[in-house]
Amino acid sequence: MIYLDNAATTYPKPQSVRRALANASMTAANPGRSGHRMSFAASEQIYRCRVKAAELFGAGSPENVCFTLNCTYAANAVIKGMLSSGDHVVISDMEHNAVVRPLHALSKQGVSYTVVTTSEDDEKTLSAFRDALRTNTKLVICTHVSNVWGIKLPVERIAAMCSQYGIPIMIDAAQSAGVFKINAQESGFDFVCMPGHKGLYGPMGTGLLIARRPELLSTTIEGGTGSASLSPEQPDFPPDKFESGTPNYPGIIGLSSGLDFVKSTTPARILAHEAQLTSMLYDRLAKNSRVTLYTPRPEKGRSGGVLSFNVGSYNSEKVAAYLNEKHGIAVRAGLHCAPLAHKHFGTLETGAVRVSPSYFTTQNEILSLARAIDRM
Ligand code: ALA
Repeated sequence: MIYLDNAATTYPKPQSVRRALANASMTAANPGRSGHRMSFAASEQIYRCRVKAAELFGAGSPENVCFTLNCTYAANAVIKGMLSSGDHVVISDMEHNAVVRPLHALSKQGVSYTVVTTSEDDEKTLSAFRDALRTNTKLVICTHVSNVWGIKLPVERIAAMCSQYGIPIMIDAAQSAGVFKINAQESGFDFVCMPGHKGLYGPMGTGLLIARRPELLSTTIEGGTGSASLSPEQPDFPPDKFESGTPNYPGIIGLSSGLDFVKSTTPARILAHEAQLTSMLYDRLAKNSRVTLYTPRPEKGRSGGVLSFNVGSYNSEKVAAYLNEKHGIAVRAGLHCAPLAHKHFGTLETGAVRVSPSYFTTQNEILSLARAIDRM
């Protein structure tokens, strides 16, 4: 199979990650719960992962790195931990349902939100965010890179504007973590949500919440943390505040190894490789008069490794099925759980065919896809 669905989860994982995951599944005791050597050793390994993530993402301290099941759980922890009736939120029109659905659920309890129309012109995007702010705006949420169109939004500038108004900002880094530079401290991101299993090359079932202002969140899950056990109150210090119950130890160890891979390869090289492939695909598809491309040519620094398109009047799901069945090529079609992003480009009816390479994707694989599209 030619796997071009890395925006859903990266495959293959680096050898080192596969090995770390397999070893950790067989050897660990429950971290942080008991006083024996095996439990301490497991806690130490988890702490090392926190340290690596804190360094890579400018979390301020390892304690601000909280493990979650995935990016959606991290986003829910912020949205539901922070908002209550009467609060207003501003979001971009590139948001995933990981943001839209929790907000919609809260809208039934008196939380309101405004969807900002983004633009190719960063100035316009920034003004649209500014114009949407209200006196009761409690939070701004912006995706870093669209999971459908690969477009990178000017999150650093939006965060600087939020800081002027004293409004916290949450960044959805689902498609950017491991690919674009993220430094929460330098950029003034209060919360950053990310999956462990995409650009960080860890296993599925892992995610991170970087919470630089944990005091702004109440808990959404309470339970055993292995700390302050006498008290029925959830500890109010991170990461314990947000991590109840036995953690996904093998997953976190796999993620730790994924972070090593990203650090040694460097996000800059990973981005350069992916951007080269999406630009090459763009140029190749642009020669096919039946292909509709919606975004400008991917430019270095302005897009992540994601490109979506349609072919003639075919429904995108049909194209994906043809690629899968006739050519053994894996892509994702449809709405990608991001109807707002599809509404922006008028593809709610057809969806779009999404191609997303990883650091392991080759030029030949991209050319095979382009040839298969030509043959449709
Ligand atoms: N959110 C993931 C995607 O975009 C699963 O495919």
